[in-house]
Amino acid sequence: MTEVGIDAVEIWTGKLKLDLPGTFAPEKGDDPEKYTKGLGLNNSSFPDVYEDIVTMGANAAKGLMDRKGLEPADIGRIDVATESAFDHSKPVSTYIAGCLEQVYDGDFTHANKGERKFACLAGTQAIDDAYNWIRAGRNRDRPAIVITTDTALYARGDPGEATQGAGAVAMLIDEDPSIVALSTDQGYGSKDETDFLKPNQQFPSVDGKRSVQVYLSRMREALEDYESVTDDIELDDFAYAPFHTPFPGMVRKAALLAYRHVIRDTEHEDALADEIGRQPREGNFVDREAYEEAIREYMDKLKTTEQYQTWYDTVVEPTLGLSREVGNWYTSSVHIARVSALRDALARDRSFVGDTLLVASYGSGAQAEIHSETVREGWRAEIEGLDIDDQLAERYDLTWEEYEDVHDVHEYDMDVEREIEEFTQPESEFVFTGWGRMNE
Ligand code: CAA
Repeated sequence: MTEVGIDAVEIWTGKLKLDLPGTFAPEKGDDPEKYTKGLGLNNSSFPDVYEDIVTMGANAAKGLMDRKGLEPADIGRIDVATESAFDHSKPVSTYIAGCLEQVYDGDFTHANKGERKFACLAGTQAIDDAYNWIRAGRNRDRPAIVITTDTALYARGDPGEATQGAGAVAMLIDEDPSIVALSTDQGYGSKDETDFLKPNQQFPSVDGKRSVQVYLSRMREALEDYESVTDDIELDDFAYAPFHTPFPGMVRKAALLAYRHVIRDTEHEDALADEIGRQPREGNFVDREAYEEAIREYMDKLKTTEQYQTWYDTVVEPTLGLSREVGNWYTSSVHIARVSALRDALARDRSFVGDTLLVASYGSGAQAEIHSETVREGWRAEIEGLDIDDQLAERYDLTWEEYEDVHDVHEYDMDVEREIEEFTQPESEFVFTGWGRMNE
């Protein structure tokens, strides 16, 4: 069976940056290490006033098409995954296709376009859809473009404000892919949850602490489901494990959970069961607080073991490189974690064709999906082709007052003009010039 997977990737970051320890922490009266060590973030990316989910997605897609020498006629499908959509009817992919048609010969009349929604998980689901479409033989030898694009902004003063970000990733999904081939095995953990919602509102209503617990619960279920369709998984099966990364501190928690699950350390688990068995009981029920304390102590001990630290430093930490510098990109987050891993392999001149990645995606609301991917021969050239380091270095560093202004500008209010000047100069790229109006 021909392999199907990610053939090429392109990243577009918002052009502005907010320095979390240097600008955000002093304004909030916080210790900068809450951000650098606790959440694990140095900077957030922000969109300049002429950027939004359409321009960022279109710029990423154009970069991808130019690098691969593609014209609209070559593409059979464009799917956008976003949780920042401003239109409840027309998919964002139509806006992006419209932009691309302005600069290429030909159009996307023939292409199937859609929009996928399941919070941050939707990008992975759009890749799955493209995979299935190709595998079903409905693609007429044409690849799909999957674009993940978000302005992940929270209301000012919300605890989530520290984890904001803005950017897009475009991925070409094709047969015989250059970067990674997708496996057919998947595991899911899915439940109706209300910890993170945007009912007809741009900024989310979030129960942040609960959202962390929901992420971990769905991830544990997805791991169990994944193991039910694969042979037992072992620690050294995976070269890297990119997780959905709202902030690196979240991945530290998820990685420990995954590690505990994979090692199935019966000695430790028995000791934990004994410890829990000794906790005071009410009828047949263990005291909940004592139970949770025993688990916490066990996990705290586990994370100090040399085996865990070596595994984390080798397999998980390298996936967090981009996230530390850009914040949460919602639907793109797991996809920049994958790219971070591949960039780490490139920096170490690692030859790992045929090695496996364990990819753990998550979306609030809530669903986790786990699958594996196999690294393909063309990965090196594709990752070398990225210019994300230059993009990050060129971002404009916002002052606090500028940050407040630009945050206001990005509220999707079609009746309010964007009144402030841009901070950077656009160069040969798509820009937002104003909301279109019907019948005008
Ligand atoms: N030095 C070192 N570490 C410090 C510190 C210091 N001076 N001060 C605090 N910390 C640590 C804390 O101990 C904590 O770490 P642990 O969780 O490991 O204990 C960490 O820094 C964060 O501190 P707080 O918990 O006090 O931070 P907070 O209450 O201000 O907010 C948050 C944390 C609730 C996650 C908030 O950022 C939030 O609401 N974020 C948005 C929701 C979110 O991202 N949820 C993640 C799961 S949902 C998801 O993944 C989908 C998605 O993309 C949104």
